[in-house]
Amino acid sequence: MCNISIKLGNCVKLLKTLPSKSVNMIFADPPYNLSGKNYQTVKNGKMTNCNKGEWDVISDIYKFNEKWVSECVRVLKDDGTIWISGTLHNHPSIGVLLKKLNLWIINDIIWYKRNATPLLSKTRLAPSTELIWLASKSKKYYFDYDTAKILNGGKQMRNLWEINAQRHKTKHPTEKPETLLERIILLGSKEGDLILDPFTGSGTTGVVAKKLKRNFIGFEISPEYVEIAKKRIGIENETENYSYSKAIEKNE
Ligand SMILES: C[S@@+](CC[C@H](N)C(=O)[O-])C[C@H]1O[C@@H](n2cnc3c(N)ncnc32)[C@H](O)[C@@H]1O
Repeated sequence: MCNISIKLGNCVKLLKTLPSKSVNMIFADPPYNLSGKNYQTVKNGKMTNCNKGEWDVISDIYKFNEKWVSECVRVLKDDGTIWISGTLHNHPSIGVLLKKLNLWIINDIIWYKRNATPLLSKTRLAPSTELIWLASKSKKYYFDYDTAKILNGGKQMRNLWEINAQRHKTKHPTEKPETLLERIILLGSKEGDLILDPFTGSGTTGVVAKKLKRNFIGFEISPEYVEIAKKRIGIENETENYSYSKAIEKNE
């Protein structure tokens, strides 16, 4: 029987409620900061400004990342690993931070989406990858090499992962494929371990953690997404007194 819990609120505040060195593995899919007038995307075959939500517009991405990454490092066990997804919009600052916080960078995993949306403009290459930083607090960390090999048909797994973008199961705009989380959780944890996702969104990490018999704690700032995630994972929790607009203001 595993414990699954999702808390509503700003992850920086909620992380402070967790004891130091209490979590085996962290998967973080933070705001990439690609919404706003500077970034375009394709919607219904037309170019439009990218708008994932207010939560994805952050004026100082380095400062924002510094707050939650530092707290994640505090709660991570000495042999735990942290996996952080992103793109060029947020990843340079994460890389600098991991170094600044003296983390051991184990891998930079390139997630390649062969079926990524084509680009309408002819001004640059069509983005079809995301990067996942994999890091730990020391060189002695838990990593299931053998399972990685089995998942790769008996051959050593490389850091280029081809996993197609999948049809979303919820209305969350950035829902990750469960296949991606299955791989990450299998390689980074054992049954009964505690997994943390500070940016739970639609609950993909929780769904997979439950399926693979891991314990799970998720944080999410939007009440709407908390409800979606709880329903998707099949858990019920107490409702909390909370102001979404105030929490978003404090994201800076
Ligand atoms: C990129 S999405 C995560 C998507 C998720 N991996 C999934 O599969 O659905 C980031 C999520 O973080 C939430 N968020 C943004 N800032 C937050 C904060 N400071 N604390 C907690 N959640 C936050 C957003 O509401 C959004 O749902």
